[in-house]
Amino acid sequence: MERTFIIGGNWKMNGDRKSIDEIIKFLRAGSIPVNNEVVIGVPALYLDYVQQRKPKNVEIAAQNCYKAEKGAFTGEISPDMLKDLGVKWVILGHSERRNIFGETDDLIAEKTAHALEKGLKVILCIGETLDERETGQTNEVCFRQMKAVANKIKDWKNVVIAYEPVWAIGTGKTATPEQAQEVHDALRKWIAENIGKEVAESIRIQYGGSVTAANAKELARQKDIDGFLVGGASLKPEFVDIINSNA
Ligand code: G3P
Repeated sequence: MERTFIIGGNWKMNGDRKSIDEIIKFLRAGSIPVNNEVVIGVPALYLDYVQQRKPKNVEIAAQNCYKAEKGAFTGEISPDMLKDLGVKWVILGHSERRNIFGETDDLIAEKTAHALEKGLKVILCIGETLDERETGQTNEVCFRQMKAVANKIKDWKNVVIAYEPVWAIGTGKTATPEQAQEVHDALRKWIAENIGKEVAESIRIQYGGSVTAANAKELARQKDIDGFLVGGASLKPEFVDIINSNA
């Protein structure tokens, strides 16, 4: 099955109006293959600013949201609020949310279920730490993170998975194409067995972790890599090359 290549940018807690204007400028100047999907993860405070200025063929994503409609949840934002701004995507379960802010598998699953229920599309991040990889737990950890979500949702059509090995995030240490492909393949097999064959065939699995213009092409050639979730390099003009890496 042909899966649409999807390139995500995750700006994390970076940017101000001035630097965002620069990013918009290079996104507007660069070409985006018509068959590719591009989604940029913008700090909540700037979602509206970017929504007003982004090129038409780029969508924006929030980097987080909460599992409730509204109420006494100081500092949180809801899927309804995102939709009110015209935001269609949200990134959930990023390893920084898991490891710095202590988000559990269950909380992430609940957030995913609520965001989907509200009609948002979700980039669901999973991945193992260095210690987990070195002790041979890579698949086990990824499957556990997947299972928590599979327990709470039935319909996966609005979910993109981002496999981001934590040891490769922001470290300049990319997983080799073989290492990434191996996990993507294992994930697809797990999905086929535990969720369904059709979902396994159609779901897109992005790779994230020190993706650059220099390594994207080779990663993009791997059979089960359907795009990227890019941190640091999504703030730079080379992001346009990454967007075109499967061309
Ligand atoms: O979500 C993207 C990410 O965590 C990877 O970051 O800076 O290694 O590309 P980076």
